[in-house]
Amino acid sequence: MALSTFTSFADVDHLDNWVELAKKIKDNPFQFQDWGRNKTLGLIFLNPSLRTRLSTQKAALNLGMQVMVMNMNQDGWAIEMEDGTVMNAGTQEHIKEAAGVISQYCDIIGIRTFPGLKDRGEDYAENIMNKFLAHATVPVVSLESATRHPLQSFADVLTIEETKNKSKPKVVLSWAPHPRALPQAVSNSFVEWMIGARANLVITNPEGWDLSKNFTRDTPVLHNQEEALQGADFVYTKNWSSFENYGAIATGKENWMITKAKLSHTNEAKFMHCLPVRRNVVVADEVLDSPASLVLEQANNRTFAAQTVLLKMLGYEG
Ligand code: CP
Repeated sequence: MALSTFTSFADVDHLDNWVELAKKIKDNPFQFQDWGRNKTLGLIFLNPSLRTRLSTQKAALNLGMQVMVMNMNQDGWAIEMEDGTVMNAGTQEHIKEAAGVISQYCDIIGIRTFPGLKDRGEDYAENIMNKFLAHATVPVVSLESATRHPLQSFADVLTIEETKNKSKPKVVLSWAPHPRALPQAVSNSFVEWMIGARANLVITNPEGWDLSKNFTRDTPVLHNQEEALQGADFVYTKNWSSFENYGAIATGKENWMITKAKLSHTNEAKFMHCLPVRRNVVVADEVLDSPASLVLEQANNRTFAAQTVLLKMLGYEG
């Protein structure tokens, strides 16, 4: 049966098979071109994007699909999310019609939403994504939601699988400083997929910046970064604003930036980040520009992760 929804790791039936299919696609990206003939992918963005936008378009084109992209916030009508609203103020079109209409034009829809980072309950309820899912009548792929970024995580798993030189490498997710409040989505999702992959994962972040227990479960969380980095084979770095004091930005924690000296505690670890990254805030140039950095390969693998998901939505079961 064709994959109908891709919003989290829960939509993955057998991760090993998905990774093998992604590798097969990477070996020859055009081998499934017939699957997308006369099919249209619609990509709806409520937020900015470089990698997700281009890699998902490329994935669809590699499959022979047509692609339409819309920046909903800039080019569309203001969308009403609540049911029963008397729409006599700012919003002009209800999500029911918007999702229903886009479904008339597309065989698969991708949508990106971001959290407001003001109301934790609202963000973690995934209201926008869930409303869109409820009213779309074709398969929907998450291009990142308020709490998860599954296409990024799939590409990250693929990158680790391709790069590792031992069966169970130590993977450290290390919090990083950042001047703005960022979502927890990439980190939540990375943890979710690493647990799904039965990886040897350790998380390190300052006190008060623990991720939700619903995502970390029994993963070790260390507040001492140097201790966590000992013997790491992969260091995945990402900022996230506080879950506990929701949306708060950490100050005075510049020394959490990843440097060459920090990586000297590791097992010659590879450095990972989803991008975009703020140089010399999150990670020092000396790391990002070194052979240890996998960031461009992660970005490259976004295409093959997206292509795997789209191919499964088109009904491929191999
Ligand atoms: N990593 C990622 O999702 O990048 P964009 O926000 O540029 O799509």
